[in-house]
Amino acid sequence: MAIRVGVVGCGFIAQYTYLPALAEIGAARVDVVAASDTVRERVDIALDQFPGATGYTSYDEFLAHDGGMDLVFNLTPPPLHREITAQALVAGCHVYSEKPIAATLEEAEELTGIARDNGLSLFAAPSTTTTARMVSIRERIENGEFGHAHTIKAHIGGLGPAIWREYSGDPKVFYGKGVGPLIDVGVYMLHAMTGLFGPATRVTAVGGIVYPERTSLTDRTLGEKITVETPDLLSINLDFENDRYAHLFTTYAVPATKAPMFELYGTLGSASIGGGQWYDGNGATDFYFRDELNVGDGWQNDVATPNSLPLGGILESGLLHAFDCLETGSENVLTPEHATHVLEIMLGALSSAESGEAVKLATTF
Ligand SMILES: NC(=O)c1ccc[n+]([C@@H]2O[C@H](COP(=O)([O-])OP(=O)(O)OC[C@H]3O[C@@H](n4cnc5c(N)ncnc54)[C@H](O)[C@@H]3O)[C@@H](O)[C@H]2O)c1
Repeated sequence: MAIRVGVVGCGFIAQYTYLPALAEIGAARVDVVAASDTVRERVDIALDQFPGATGYTSYDEFLAHDGGMDLVFNLTPPPLHREITAQALVAGCHVYSEKPIAATLEEAEELTGIARDNGLSLFAAPSTTTTARMVSIRERIENGEFGHAHTIKAHIGGLGPAIWREYSGDPKVFYGKGVGPLIDVGVYMLHAMTGLFGPATRVTAVGGIVYPERTSLTDRTLGEKITVETPDLLSINLDFENDRYAHLFTTYAVPATKAPMFELYGTLGSASIGGGQWYDGNGATDFYFRDELNVGDGWQNDVATPNSLPLGGILESGLLHAFDCLETGSENVLTPEHATHVLEIMLGALSSAESGEAVKLATTF
């Protein structure tokens, strides 16, 4: 029987990615029964796509939807994640939450506890680890193809949503306290790094605010001034157990770059994912293997990823994973414990950039 789905937050990412993906996964697996947003027109956009669903502008009424829901997608803005997720779990629904899981470690741990105590799954985005590409890189690491895989270097960001003309949400949110490039996009890389290397043990960072004020170029808020309240540039270093390291550069202050988005280095080889490759989770990767391994020398560009998923997007891979888990009882890898650990890294990085001190990490997954 199809899983009964409710969507709360019918804004940009719902319209752009989640609703089309739910439609594409298909009615045999997904039955979208309810949609909620405080703005009526956005509810109606969701109902256009799923005419059988019921629309709500009240979250309480949504949670009391006649006929029930199995899984709620929380696609609201970050400051609301904790509250919306907690209420859906208490109402007895599995939850798939957009990132970040919550604003503080205490909140994230509380959500983990509510899910566990009620025997419910909490799927925490971002789903960087569930793409076909990351699954295959992880297998290559485990098979020893890179020798000792010791370092990951990642670069993500640009100038941020203030310059996305077609963005229908509020770009201001992304430059305010509690968001910024680290929480908004750096989080993808931190999930990938920790997904491949396991929990980090220490974080150090430098960074700050390059642009104290931004001017919105999005159509909806054109010309509005945005005060930047959180670092728009951060250079972060992580230590892991077993002599492993990672570096993340994340920003809303860089117009353009030719840096690869993600590179992995081992004693016997490297993997490199460029900006043109990164967003297709089924897409190709460049590899370099030293000839001691007898698999050739030099770069092998655009190596196809095996075991493509039916949907190639990074976000979409998480949806497919959640439906697989709920249908078959297989293990959730998008755990709240992992998201909590990444939240600790992000809060530690912000604190380290301010204090100049390294921050030891306590959580694990
Ligand atoms: N925009 C992107 O490219 C992108 C990509 C990946 C993930 N995300 C994540 O998705 C989430 C949403 O981002 P977005 O860009 O879609 O923002 P958005 O502002 O376009 O959408 C959020 C929606 O939530 C609604 N909302 C606010 N309070 C609500 C409430 N109490 N009950 C019901 N609905 C409520 C808003 O009216 C809005 O329509 C964020 O967590 C963001 O980090 C966004």
